[in-house]
Amino acid sequence: MTQLCQRAQSGVLSNPSTHVEYLTFCLKQDSTSITTQQINQQAISDFIAAVSGIEKSINQKDLTAGLNISIGFSANAWSQLFPSYPTPAELHPFKEMSDGDRLFPATAGDVFIMIKSERIDLNFQAAKYIMKSFSELASLVEDIQGYKYLDNRDMIDFVDGTENPNGAERAMAVLVAEDNDLHQGGSYLHVQRYVDKQLDWDKQTTEYQEQVIGRTKMDNVELTDEEKPVWAHNAKSKVEVEGLEVKMLRQNRPYGNAMEHGTMFIGFAATPTIIETSLSQMIHADEYGNYDRLLDFVDAKTGCLYFMPSKTFLEQFDDG
Ligand code: HEM
Repeated sequence: MTQLCQRAQSGVLSNPSTHVEYLTFCLKQDSTSITTQQINQQAISDFIAAVSGIEKSINQKDLTAGLNISIGFSANAWSQLFPSYPTPAELHPFKEMSDGDRLFPATAGDVFIMIKSERIDLNFQAAKYIMKSFSELASLVEDIQGYKYLDNRDMIDFVDGTENPNGAERAMAVLVAEDNDLHQGGSYLHVQRYVDKQLDWDKQTTEYQEQVIGRTKMDNVELTDEEKPVWAHNAKSKVEVEGLEVKMLRQNRPYGNAMEHGTMFIGFAATPTIIETSLSQMIHADEYGNYDRLLDFVDAKTGCLYFMPSKTFLEQFDDG
């Protein structure tokens, strides 16, 4: 397990930082010809080396800010950028899910960059240089700045991340252990950007909000089995296989301002099945019409699946 942890990109196993910038890029060309593939090979090597250089030099400005940059690739990006490497076994495009008026859309995104640190200015500078160094190959389609809100609360005012696994349990939940040697220590990442329906949420009583989340608002204590409705978020999102809970790591952060805000759902797991199962349990109503009632108050605007390769994989491209 220690060896796997050493292979993980630095942002993958760590807790969410005070500031985080999420960049979503889409590749510019369709690489069907060999020539384009060769161009891509050189361009992606240059890009990976550039990101590593940007991380090193901006980090030097303030080591206490702990800046680190992690990179993920969609199934589409993998086949275009790394045609001579095996695709991670479970990497596939995220498939839209819907039920009634609830929708988890599948949206565009080929390369995902997560810049974590304690300083928004350093994150911005890294984002600016990364966008520039990737401009020939890809277009930036979304740039979201997330941040720690109060004591790790979402903007619906509940503490988020409490039930995340820690230590060895976290590494087991997050890191791929069985795949091609190069992919061991990688991780699957589901990203969804949600917008809060704040006015609707604020109309609810605290008691109802607590039932929706499944925990108390002020003290963040889990409701008892008797108190917790089957449609509570922490009941619907929990995944069990043969009676045993299977964990994921959520590095969610809120983003936005008083006009529009929400949550970036940043979910890591050793297999995408865990998070897809969780999403399916949340959105699909059961035979009694029960779905995750949190979805009455938040709207998913984006949805993508990425593979965050191991450092061992990325280092092959970094000649610096
Ligand atoms: C707007 C989006 C979301 C918000 C505001 C939100 C918020 C929360 C909060 C406040 C908790 C309780 C504290 C904790 O354990 O972290 C929680 C728990 C949890 N959430 Fe979410 N969440 C969101 C989306 C999702 C999504 C999309 C998934 C899965 C794909 C998910 C999976 C979980 C899991 C597994 C737990 C822990 C359940 C348990 O074992 O108690 N959440 N979430």
